[in-house]
Amino acid sequence: MAELNKSQSRDARVHKTVVNSWNEWDPLRHVIVGRATDCHIPPPEPAIEAKVPEDSDMRGAWGKRPQDTIDRGNELLDRFAETLERRGIVVDRPTPIDFSQPVTTPDFHTDSQFGCMPPRDVLLTVGSEILEATMSYRCRWFEYLCYRPLLQRYWEEDRNFRHEAAPKPRLTDADYRADYLSADVGVQSRLEWTSRKFFVTTEHEPLFDAADVLRMGRDLVVQHGFTTNLKGIEWLRRHFPSHRVHAVNFPGDPYPIHIDATFTPLRPGLLINNPQRRLPNEQRKLFEENDWEIIDAAPPAHNSPPPLCYSSVWLSMNVLALDSKTVCVEKSEVYQADQLDKLGFEVVEVELRDAYAFGGGLHCCTADVFREGQCEDYFPRLKEA
Ligand code: ALA
Repeated sequence: MAELNKSQSRDARVHKTVVNSWNEWDPLRHVIVGRATDCHIPPPEPAIEAKVPEDSDMRGAWGKRPQDTIDRGNELLDRFAETLERRGIVVDRPTPIDFSQPVTTPDFHTDSQFGCMPPRDVLLTVGSEILEATMSYRCRWFEYLCYRPLLQRYWEEDRNFRHEAAPKPRLTDADYRADYLSADVGVQSRLEWTSRKFFVTTEHEPLFDAADVLRMGRDLVVQHGFTTNLKGIEWLRRHFPSHRVHAVNFPGDPYPIHIDATFTPLRPGLLINNPQRRLPNEQRKLFEENDWEIIDAAPPAHNSPPPLCYSSVWLSMNVLALDSKTVCVEKSEVYQADQLDKLGFEVVEVELRDAYAFGGGLHCCTADVFREGQCEDYFPRLKEA
């Protein structure tokens, strides 16, 4: 009898999942943190060729990443997970698949996959729904499988959870502009191309990565760029009919993928914007007319990204809000930390730079499961969707 009581009380403490998250700043209670395990540098494919800078050490290299860097990446991600758990946040982790496996579909072949470090790229949580993004890289086509054990468990535990998957794209050559890939064009040409919204992906079929979407209550702000096309944004608009979906661009970015090193909401009414990738004036109106202040993010502390890294130095602003007063910032990013401190936030320093190469910073390496709060309207002067 005593044993039974003991196990009953243990069961009562076991966390049962509830999926609910409407924005980037309400109090975080349950989150997924990625893993660096078995991460591969994928072989060349059209979308990656366009993204990797011409002077990058990743050009021409592919295969499994060095094991010592994987171990170090996992050490930092595990420590970040422990930091969150010590604050009472439930943390789940993906189950890596064998990323050395090639992918062959009727439409394309690639010789290896990527990894499961940035869950933010794959999973979009909107209210009680988690949506698997289409993805736009061939090497990431099956990445959702790493999250299926978790999503299946959530589905068992939370009867209101909606597990959704966007239509898998075919990712034939028709999805990518051949003229984008032809030669080393230089950063100036790329800036000119992106300023007129000439991106590597075509409008052949809907494409989006979840990390191009910012969740701001009733409003979803979506970056149109290399990884998300206009049809992808239209797909999101039709899929979330109660939301208002806004397409945004950041012309100063020569490699526009994923919005979270460019435009970061910190709390209702306050966003930081990458000063090299400012939101164009006509798009600022949406925010300013609804009393949002957009300020320049502090400069990064580093002049270059770590080795074998896809991302820019602006992962400095890839911060994770634990609530509207508390923000996790990478430990070496002293200018970003100082700016947030002066804005009145409690800054939680987290060492993560050696894990950047696996796909990003503190926001990228997480995906929300539960934040307190409900769907609110932070843009009250907007007309109905
Ligand atoms: N767009 C992100 C960057 O600046 C990933 O690196």
